[in-house]
Amino acid sequence: EPIIDTFDLVFLISAGLVAVLYLFREAIFGPKKPSALPPPVAIPRPPQKKDKNFIKKMRNTDCDMTLLDDFPDDCLAFFLMATYGEGEPTDDAVEFWELINSDNPEFSKGMPIEDKPLSSLRYVVFALGNKTYEHFNAVGRLVDSKLSEFGATRIGERGEGDDDGSLEEDFLGWKEDMWKAVCDAMNIDPNDSQNHRTRIAAYKITELEHYDNDTVFYGELSEHALNSGTRISYDAKNPFPSAITASRELFNSTDRNCVHMELDITGSGLYYQSGDHVAIWPINPEQDVYRLLKVLGLWDKKDTIVTVESTDPSASKKHPFPVPTTYATIFRNYLDINSPASRQFIATLANYAPTEEGKSRLTTLGQDKEAYRIEVADAHLTLGEVLELASSNGKQLDSIPLDLIIETLPRLQCRYYSISSTSKVAPTSIHITASVLRYQPLTSPKKTVYGLATNYIHQVHRKLNNIEHPDTSPYYLYSGPRDKYYDDSTNTIKFAIHVRNTNFKLPKNLKIPVVMVGPGTGVAPFRGFVIERAKYKSEGDTVGDTVLFFGCRKRNEDFLYANEFDELFTVLGENGKLVTAFSREQDTKVYVQHRLVEHQQYIWELIYTRGGYFYVCGDAKNMARDVNNALIQIAQTCGGMDENSSIAYVKDLRSRGRYQEDVWS
Ligand code: 2AM
Repeated sequence: EPIIDTFDLVFLISAGLVAVLYLFREAIFGPKKPSALPPPVAIPRPPQKKDKNFIKKMRNTDCDMTLLDDFPDDCLAFFLMATYGEGEPTDDAVEFWELINSDNPEFSKGMPIEDKPLSSLRYVVFALGNKTYEHFNAVGRLVDSKLSEFGATRIGERGEGDDDGSLEEDFLGWKEDMWKAVCDAMNIDPNDSQNHRTRIAAYKITELEHYDNDTVFYGELSEHALNSGTRISYDAKNPFPSAITASRELFNSTDRNCVHMELDITGSGLYYQSGDHVAIWPINPEQDVYRLLKVLGLWDKKDTIVTVESTDPSASKKHPFPVPTTYATIFRNYLDINSPASRQFIATLANYAPTEEGKSRLTTLGQDKEAYRIEVADAHLTLGEVLELASSNGKQLDSIPLDLIIETLPRLQCRYYSISSTSKVAPTSIHITASVLRYQPLTSPKKTVYGLATNYIHQVHRKLNNIEHPDTSPYYLYSGPRDKYYDDSTNTIKFAIHVRNTNFKLPKNLKIPVVMVGPGTGVAPFRGFVIERAKYKSEGDTVGDTVLFFGCRKRNEDFLYANEFDELFTVLGENGKLVTAFSREQDTKVYVQHRLVEHQQYIWELIYTRGGYFYVCGDAKNMARDVNNALIQIAQTCGGMDENSSIAYVKDLRSRGRYQEDVWS
C-alpha cells in the first residue's frame, strides 16, 4: 500500500519549499467583483523588476535562499512549507532548512544574526501537514519563527493546513484575511480599478503541423527517455522503465485484492536496501481521459501534436510537462485528472457552463462548503464528472480554455510503496505488496471509487496473467505509438519507477533483537527484514531475536505471505517468533497491539534489557498510535515507570532511532 492519501499533499509537497513570488501591486489583485469579469484567477504575473540583479540571481540559482537578505522591500516572499515524517522538511527544502537552522546562516551579506540580516524581508507563510502526525506543521512553524528571529516581518497570520481534514478549505479560509493584510502592507486599494486584471493565460498552447516524431513525448517523463541507449542515472526526474517479472494475487477473496509484483532493475544502476520505498508513476484510466477529451471538445484532435509553453518569462519551468505531446497524452500521463476537483476550481468553471442550470449547479458546489464536501470531496468526483454534471442536452463546456485546466490541475504524481524485498537476497529485483483501493463512499454508496495507482497495478496484473477484467472495472492499459512500457508481442509491461531511500533500517549489528509490528500491507518492509535475517542465520551468523506481529482479518483470507513466513521463521528457529492477530475470526476484535500486551514481558526484555529495535509499519491514524500507547503501557507494567517517564522513555527510543515508523494515512 502506498503512502496514499498524503499524495494530494505530496503534489504541494513536491513544490515543497517556497514559492517566492514577487508581487507588485499592479499584478496582485483580481477584481473586487469577480463575477463581472472572466474567471477570477488572480495569479500574479511577472512584475517589472526594479532590482533586475536580484531576480537574475534568484533565477540563476533556482531560489538561492542565501540571497534573502537582499530581498527588495517592495516585494513579498511566500513560503509554502510542508512537513514530512518526524517533523522533517521535504527533499527540496532540505538545503533551506539547514541554512535557516544553522548557528550562523550565511546570508549573502554575511551579517551576524544580531544585526537581523532579514530586516528588509516581508513574508507570508502557510504550513502544510497532517494532524495525525506528532510533529504537525513543525517545518512551517519553525521557518516562521526563524524568519522573525532574523528580523523579517510576517504579513498576516501564519496559515496552517491539515490534510487529515481539508487542506484546500484551510487554505481558502486563511486566504481572505491574508489578502487583506497583504493589501494593507503593500498599500494597495483592492477597489481601485487599476488593480483589476482580466485573467492572463499562464500557458500558450500551439498545435504543431511540422514536427519530428522522434521528439514527441507519449508519456515519457524526461528527455533521456526518448534517447534510449544513452547511459544515464535514474531518479525522480528520470524514472527507469522496469519490466515486471512476476505478479501474483495474495488475497483469497472475491471482493478484495492485494498484488505482489517483482520489478526488474537489472542494468539500471538503481540500488536499494530493505526498508526503502519505490515510486511508481501511474497512468490515468483511459475512460477518464476519453471523458475529459469529449467534454472539452478535444476528442477529434486527441492525437494532434501540441506544445505548451509558459507565458511567464520568469517562470522557473518553461514547460509544465514534456512537450511536444498530444492532447490525449496530457490527460493520460501528465495531469492529475483523477483527484476530486477543487472547490475553487469548480467556482471558476461555473463561468463556462453552457446553460443557466449548469452554471447554478457549479456555483452551488463552488460556494457551499457542505454541498461540496458531500457531493464532490466525499464522493470523489473528478473534474470530468463535474464537467459532465454541468453539461446538458449535448451542450458541453468546451469553451473552457485548456490553459486554465493545465494551470489549475496538479501534475500527476508518483506513488510510493514500501519495498517488500531485500537487496541482500534480490539485488536486481524490487518487490511490492499493494492492496487495491476500492470503496463505496458513504454519501454515494452506488459509486465505486478506484484508487489510481493500485488499480493501475491491478490492471497490469490482470493483463500479465491473462485475467479478464470485469466491465465494471476501470480500463487503464494504453499502448501508445512508441510505447516502451508495453510490448504486446512478448506481453511485457514496464513501470516507470525510482527508488527513495529511507531511514527505516535494520540495526547494522545482527545480534540486536528486532520487534516488528506490521498489520495488513504494513508487513511489506518486514518481509524484506525477515528474509534478510533468515539469510544470515542460514549462513551461520548469530542473529538476534526477530519477532513479527502481523494482523489481518482472517487466516485463510488475507494472511500475506503465510507460507513464506512459515519457512523463514523455521530457519530463524527459536530466535524467531511470528505472532498473529486475526481480527475477524471471533466476535471481538483482536489487533496487534492486544498481542503486544499479551507478550509484554518478552517485548520488554528485548527492548529494554537487550537494547532491541522496535518497528511499526502501516496505518498512521489508528494502529500506529495504538501501538505507541501499548508500548507506553508495557513500560509502566513491566518497567515500573509512571506515566510521564514511560512516555519520555518511548520518545527517547524514537529519538535514538530505536523506535522507527513507516506509516501512512
Ligand atoms: P479490522 O478490519 O477487522 O478492524 C489489517 O488491516 C488488519 O488491521 C485488519 O485485521 C484490521 O482489522 C486491523 N486493524 C484495524 N484497525 C486497527 C487498529 N486501530 N489497530 C490495529 N489493527 C487494526
